[in-house]
This record gives sequence, structure tokens and C-alpha cells, in this order.
Amino acid sequence: MNPITSSLPESQTGDVWTPQTWKQKPLQQAVAYPDNGALEQATAHLSSLPPLVTSWEIERLRDQLAEAAEGRRFVLQGGDCAETFSECSPEYITNKLKILLQMSLVLTDGLKRPIVRVGRMAGQYAKPRSKAMESHGGKELPSYFGDLINSAAFTEESRRPDPRRMIDAYQHSAMTLNFIRALVDGGFADLHHPEYWDLGFLGKAGLVPERRAEYLRRVEALGNAIDVMEVIAGRKIDRVSLMEFYTSHEGLSLHYESALTRRVPRRPGYYDLACHLPWIGERTRQVEGAHVEFFRGIRNPIGVKLGPKATPRELMRLVSILDPDKEPGRLVLIGRFGAGKVRQVLPGLVAATAQTGRHPVWICDPMHANTVSTKSGKKTRHFDLVMEELLESIDIHEELGTSLGGVHFELTAENVTECLGGASGVSEKDLDQRYHSFCDPRLNYEQAMEIAFAIAHRMEAV
Ligand code: PEP
Ligand code: CO
Repeated sequence: MNPITSSLPESQTGDVWTPQTWKQKPLQQAVAYPDNGALEQATAHLSSLPPLVTSWEIERLRDQLAEAAEGRRFVLQGGDCAETFSECSPEYITNKLKILLQMSLVLTDGLKRPIVRVGRMAGQYAKPRSKAMESHGGKELPSYFGDLINSAAFTEESRRPDPRRMIDAYQHSAMTLNFIRALVDGGFADLHHPEYWDLGFLGKAGLVPERRAEYLRRVEALGNAIDVMEVIAGRKIDRVSLMEFYTSHEGLSLHYESALTRRVPRRPGYYDLACHLPWIGERTRQVEGAHVEFFRGIRNPIGVKLGPKATPRELMRLVSILDPDKEPGRLVLIGRFGAGKVRQVLPGLVAATAQTGRHPVWICDPMHANTVSTKSGKKTRHFDLVMEELLESIDIHEELGTSLGGVHFELTAENVTECLGGASGVSEKDLDQRYHSFCDPRLNYEQAMEIAFAIAHRMEAV
């Protein structure tokens, strides 16, 4: 038996999968590229470039996700709603790493589990939009679909989709990843040195004094625990195991994802080597659609966003297509149901999935279904509702005897005023001060840390 062809999944109609079979299915969020020749040129160029991640890393993440599904690890997935090319700077990248590392330190100490750190980073450049067109002052132009597709300025030129932007997105992902890898290899993420992750503004726009004290207490507790483990082991704990960092993004542009999908030597099947953990968005997870067709054939672990309208029946079909072999660590189901709705929806979905014999990692994204618009038209989210959906999800899993396997946030280390509430009390009139997101509103440093503390308190293991 040929391990390569035997591992290619067949669809229910018996068609063999290839990285291009998605083109025969209905495509949601399709981009109208004006020049087909330029599109072909860009994807051919991308296909010839080196991969961004490796299959070893992907396989390692899959093993760790299998443990998260059993409650032995916890996933922290976070970053900007949309990365932009202009924010591909050393400060921006290190600040984002710092906040994810600080949150993961609080979670490691609270939950007493290793944290799987997954950035919405190094590739989160394509955005689904609820409206394909946007109008201002009597002019109608295509919406901004992320830097991978067009550009945010409201001019005809900027909003025209340009396939060469896929090469730019690849290059910015490579630059970001190169810097992350260099930092991580140099010991930046080493738990022996949490002082590397201090953010300049701590104490000013940072944590309230009690939280700062709690953070330092947890840093010290963890440092002591590592020292004890090293004394017992009689050697330094392998730094590599302390500092892994994975990348993820919404696999929205199938032109881009399929051009970076490759076979690798000595392993069966195809890997999407654009990132470790690509996910399917809420708007593109149709059972018969192009995105599900593409994702079913790649070997990566895959995320699926699930909104309040997801039904148990639909989910059962979806998981059987995406995970036909019931592989541990294959599926990450990311619920984004909304505070007040999660209780109506989540239990049925968990039961339906378990009935199919699968044990996915259940992650809570308490951001996307709690978005509201202010009177002046600003998109925002209230911190209390984010917290409510999160805590309710933890309760529900406990009641069901399953375990929340992780969390997914839109956050930034900068002191933005995009989400309302939190300890520093961002109010509606503050939103105009530092609202920098081109897309969805993000938690700022203090709000994100507050949530990490709340999870640690709620799931504290003694
Ligand atoms: C996102 O994660 O930015 C996003 C668009 O999410 P969803 O597909 O859940 O709406
Ligand atoms: Co978003």
C-alpha cells in the first residue's frame, strides 16, 4: 500500500482530495481579483517559496493538543484581530509575545498545567467581512479584507484586490516568524527569566497594585517550582520544553493556503505549511463549501469557529468530514456563542461531538459574539460580557464532566481603548482616544491580564 496515496482522504462521493479540489466547491468570501493572470503568477511564485513552518512542529502541536483535550494542557490563543504590514515592527512583535508570555505564566501557575501558546501572529492578514462593499459619502468600494487582499484606505486604488499582496503577506509572516524564533531561541521566552517580559509602561497604565503583587507572587512561585524540579532532576530543565510558541491564523484565502500546502519527505499526506494551526471561520464553515473541502485534506490540527447558530446535527457532519479517523489532537472547536447564549448552545454541541466518538479541544472565544456598535458606530465589546461568557463556559464544561481546553482572545499589549470596562473602566467616550484596530476591538494589556487572573482563580489547581 502506498502510504502517500492511501492517506489522501476521499469525499463522501469518493473523489480524491488534492490541494486544489476546493476550487470545485462553492466559495464564501470569494475575492474578485481583476487579473487572473496576475493571480496565477502570484500563487505559482508562492508555491516555489520555502515553507514557513515544518511538519515536525505541526506534529508536536497535535500531540500537545491531544493532551489539552484530556485536560492535561491548556491552550492560550491570542493576538490581533488583523495583523497589518505596517505593524510588523520589533516593538510590536515583542510586546505581543510579552503579553502572551505573561498571561501564560499566570495560567501555568494557576492551573498547574503546561500552557500551549498559540499566537494569532505571523499570518493573520486575511479578514472575512459581513458586507462585501462599504459606503462613505455616497461612494461605494469593496470592504477592507485584510492586508493580504487589499489595503484599508478608502480609495479605489487601495481597495482593489491585488494578488501580489499574498507574496507581501508571506514575507511579513516570514519576518515576524524569524524574529519570534530568534527571540525564543535566544532564551526570551524562558521561564527562568520572566523579567524579560516586563512592559515599559507597567505600573503606569499597567496593572492595579494588587494585581501587580499577585503577578510577582506567581512569578516567584513558578521560579521556585522550576528550581525544585531542577534540583530533583539534577540538571537544568530543557529550555525547549519551556518555551514553545505556535502560530495560527484564519485560513480564509484558499489561494494563499493551498499554495503553501505541500507534501513533506517521509510523512504521508499534505501539510499546510503557512502556520501550525489554521482555523475555519464562522462565515466559511459550510459543510459543502470550499473551506471545509480544503481543510479536510490537510494534516495540520485544525480549528473551527462555532457561532450560536451551530446545530448538533451540522456539527456531527462537520467533524466526521474534518476528522474521519478520529485522531487525537486533530480538532480544536472554538465556541463563540455570546454571553447569555452559551448555555443554550454549548451542551448540545459537546454531547453531539462526544456521541461521534471524538474528543476535540474545546476552546472559548468570548470576543466575537459579544460585539456591539456604539451610537457613533464604533465596534466594541464589554469586558463584563467577555468575562461572563468565559466563566459560563468553564462552568458548563465542569457540569458536563468535560474540560475547557483553552481560550482565544483578540488582544494587544498596547494601551488601547477599544473594549469597554475592566479595572481601569474604559468608557464609551474613551473609545475615541486610542482606538487603533482596523477590524475588531481588542482587549488592552490590563484587560487581558485581568482575564488571565480570573481564569487562574476560577480554575486554580492546588
Ligand atoms: C476572527 O477570529 O477574527 C473572526 C472573524 O472570527 P469569527 O469567524 O468567529 O467571526
Ligand atoms: Co475578529
